[in-house]
Amino acid sequence: MRVLVSGGAGYIGSHTVVQLVAAGHEVLVVDSFANAKPAVVGRLETLTGAAIPVHAFDLTDHEKTERLFAQEPIDAVVHFAGLKAVGESVQRPLDYYENNLESTFSLVRAMRRHGCGLLVFSSSATVYGDHAPVPYVEDYEPLSASSPYGRTKVMIEQVLRDVAHIDEGLRVALLRYFNPVGAHPSGTIGEDPQGVPNNLMPFVAQVAVGRRERLEVFGGDYPTADGTCERDYIHVEDLAAGHVAALSWIATHDRRVSTWNLGGGRGTSVLQLVAAFERASGRTIPYAIVGRRAGDLPAFWADPTLAREELGWQTTRTVEEMCADTWRWQRANPQGYPD
Ligand code: UD1
Repeated sequence: MRVLVSGGAGYIGSHTVVQLVAAGHEVLVVDSFANAKPAVVGRLETLTGAAIPVHAFDLTDHEKTERLFAQEPIDAVVHFAGLKAVGESVQRPLDYYENNLESTFSLVRAMRRHGCGLLVFSSSATVYGDHAPVPYVEDYEPLSASSPYGRTKVMIEQVLRDVAHIDEGLRVALLRYFNPVGAHPSGTIGEDPQGVPNNLMPFVAQVAVGRRERLEVFGGDYPTADGTCERDYIHVEDLAAGHVAALSWIATHDRRVSTWNLGGGRGTSVLQLVAAFERASGRTIPYAIVGRRAGDLPAFWADPTLAREELGWQTTRTVEEMCADTWRWQRANPQGYPD
């Protein structure tokens, strides 16, 4: 298929581009480069051996989006593009609602006008809110989220369900990611957060490489085995494979909307992750346990049964591999991608 990857220069998008090409798809990317570096594109072409045409614009621009679909035959869209920093979304709610919703409206309108009926959407485990029982199962309701970022995911899921309800030509996959970490085993593409990383793994990696002095562990008094929060970390390579599997499933089945958790089904604590990273890197990660971060849940992980049964997909990479691959990327690219 000819697949448009929105946000294809970003962290998860870039890894998915590699696997889509490996699966035989022809890929084109649309990315605003608001939170990604153009240098990633050359690396993708080296890794895939394919030309990856890139359209550099923001999908909130309806005219440019329409023009892209008018010019290019597109069979399917994998939609990653969006703003994604939880803390920033609290400070800039209008930017988050406007950007994430408007880009999706623009994209789906263009898809409908041009007969493109396959859409894979990047959702998040954040839609399970604060009260869902662990492990999380896909049919849990009501969905909610504790930040404007998370609420854009809840809203977009709902918009896509409503549109699919009246459009018999549309097949939508809503993929709920748990905690993506790791990097391509080549060490040439990986996560490159701008500024101070919000998420645990990139922060740990920057401490290991000497960019930051020490990690602050947010809370040591949670009701977990070692007192630190537990999360379901998933290797970005497993996550990318989940997108390829989901796309091929919706292309061959009649269900209009499918929701799948993409997680491993196990929790790993902050301190367990730090210890695994020390083993993988051979570096010591200095840390201090500080107060809890507002909005953090003690522990959650996926029930990955549905994706296994329907997609034949499951995670295969261990926490050790997640750390080893993150470290290979970070060591080879201590400052991330060049400007
Ligand atoms: C966060 C977001 C989630 C989003 C996901 C994207 C929040 C509340 N949730 O998930 O909505 O979809 O990122 O990847 O922000 N930690 C530290 N020190 C740090 C950073 C993190 O101790 O410097 C801890 C956190 O308290 C948490 C764990 O590490 O217990 C994982 O944190 P993080 O990587 O930010 O992921 P989530 O909070 O699970």
